[in-house]
This record gives sequence, structure tokens and C-alpha cells, in this order.
Amino acid sequence: MKILGIESSCDETAAAVVENGKHIISSVVATQIPFHTMYNGVVPEIASRKHTEWILPVVKQALSEAELTIRDIDGIAVTNSPGLMGSLLVGLTFAKTLAWSIDAPFIAVNHMLAHLYAAHINEEIPYPYLGLLVSGGHSIICRVSGFDQIEILGTTIDDAVGEAFDKVAKFYNFGYPGGVAIDKLAREGNPAAASFPMPSLHKGGHEYDVSYSGLKTAVINQIDQFWNPAFEKTPQHIAAAFQETAVRILLSRLLKAVRDTGLTTIVAGGGVAANSRLRELLASEKNLRCIFPPLKLCGDNGAMIAGIGYHYLVRGDRSPWSIGASARVQGFRKSGRPS
Ligand code: KG4
Ligand code: ZN
Repeated sequence: MKILGIESSCDETAAAVVENGKHIISSVVATQIPFHTMYNGVVPEIASRKHTEWILPVVKQALSEAELTIRDIDGIAVTNSPGLMGSLLVGLTFAKTLAWSIDAPFIAVNHMLAHLYAAHINEEIPYPYLGLLVSGGHSIICRVSGFDQIEILGTTIDDAVGEAFDKVAKFYNFGYPGGVAIDKLAREGNPAAASFPMPSLHKGGHEYDVSYSGLKTAVINQIDQFWNPAFEKTPQHIAAAFQETAVRILLSRLLKAVRDTGLTTIVAGGGVAANSRLRELLASEKNLRCIFPPLKLCGDNGAMIAGIGYHYLVRGDRSPWSIGASARVQGFRKSGRPS
């Protein structure tokens, strides 16, 4: 079963053809980064205009690289939440129209569940496991028992981890997207150059939650308080010290969830799952099996949409033509302590 997956929730216009949820026949990602770089962040209006311009050529390219025509497609999947409203609507409207015109099964999918599915494209991963979903808009620690079955244990109480990378990079002019720029700079820096505070969220139902606004403020507004005077304040050292704390915040909550649930497999997804220090620290946890998607499937792409879409469609699920887009995640409720 060949599924066409379409993704337009943020600043990538992407389409892919994936067979049976596993075999990527083609995957095209048109990044808008050069159009947002001068603003040091995504400009929603520019994003939706670029999606409108690019969606048809991107889908055409995905089909031609797969050496298929639209008539060979057995179903169409598209992201309809969460993301930038205008951007989501471009992909959703395009996908609905295309599916209707060729009478193909159609499914709208959740972008975060698709990020989690990305690791399943290349590997057989038995359920249940702990999911770590980290992107520009979300930081989620969850118990996963099926491709669409997640129980949220913890989330961020303020900024998402990717957002913290982006805001620190914007303030210091490190480049855009912030996570990529900081990851690169940090390789030449020393994490011991500063000792930024870790949030203490051990009580009041926040055992698995993370917080990034304190770290962001410390790095941006109070850096002198936490700086080790033995180091010069270079971009490389700032990036390394910030990244180390940002990643260790995630790790401390995740390892607590491992201890409490007894689950020893961790599957990561989302743009921040590309972070080299996060990958390195998790890989050094010898008693855990940590699975990361390949780098090209960490950021936004159409293959993860087609991949998860296959599982819905094969089960017989269909979205109605009336389905809308939603900027926020629908139906994700935090349960707190794992059951
Ligand atoms: O999943 P994604 O491509 O889009 C969203 O769904 O948000 O994630 C984008 C986020 C951005 O905040 C970006 O700075 C971050 O992922 N990111 C990284 C890295 N690559 C991308 N953060 C840390 N290290 C990276 N290597
Ligand atoms: Zn994403």
C-alpha cells in the first residue's frame, strides 16, 4: 500500500511516498530556512505563502522521484495539528482536494505522533516504551503503547526545549534555526564554562515535567552570575554550557520515568532529537535501549506522515472532508504518574 504523506505545519514543505509504513520510496523536503533567517525565526505569514507556492511542485517531485503517478497512490495522509494555522491549512486543503479528486482514502494525522513514528520506519520497535518528543513547540515524556496510544507523563511548564535553543541563539545571534547553530558551536566549546541552574520540579504533580524559562533567563539576562571566570565568554563556550544544561534537564526527567515505569526502551523524535549531545548522553546509558530516527527523519518530513498514515488507513480509519486544522495538540492529556 503506497501512501502519499504531506507536511506543512511549520517551515518545511514536504511530501513523501512510503510503502506499507516502512519503505521510503521518495521523500522531498523543501526548507524555507533562507526566507526566515533574516528574521531569526519563522514568520507565519511568509511560511504559509511559501507553502502555497511550493506544495504542488513538492508533491509532483515526490511522485516523479518515486516514478509513480497520482493514480498509483493508495491513500493520502496529511498533518492537521499542531502547527502554524495558516501553514497547516495549506497542506490540509491541498491533501483533501487531491484525495477527493482521485477518490483516495484520506487521513489527517497528528504531527507529534508522526515524529514518534519516524523511528519505526527503519526499525522494529516493540511497545510499550518511553517516548521523548522534543521539537520547537513541544517537550513531551510519554508512555507509548501503540502508534496512536500515548500517555503523557510530563511536558514543559513554559518554553519547549527547541524554543529555548531558538531564543538563546536569537539573542546571541548564533544563527537560525537555533538548535542546529548551538549544536555546531557547542562542539568547540566547554560545558564547564558556566553552571546554569537546573529547575527543581520534584513535587506537586510535576515529577516528569521540564521547564526552560529559568535556564533561558539565566543564559540571556544573568549570565555573569553563573559564568566560570576561568573561561572567556565566547559563543562556543556559551553554546556548550547552555546545551549541556538543556539536555540534562530532559535527561533527569526521562531517567526518573525509566525508574518509575521500569521501561528501558526510549524512542526519541522531533527536531531536537537531532542534537548530538542528547544522542551521546542517552547512548552512554548502558542499561537503556535508546532509539533515534536517522537525522533526516528528526526534523519535519513527509515520510513520517505517510508512515503513520498507513497504520490508520490499514485499520480502516478515514478523516471526514469537514475536518479542520488545529494549532494546538488535541486530545493529549497529562496523566502525571504512570499507570
Ligand atoms: O520538529 P521540528 O523540525 O519542528 C517542529 O515541529 O517544531 O523541530 C524544530 C526545532 C527547532 O527549535 C530547532 O532549533 C530544533 O528543533 N533543532 C535542534 C537541532 N536541530 C533542530 N535542537 C537542538 N539540536 C539540534 N541539532
Ligand atoms: Zn516537527
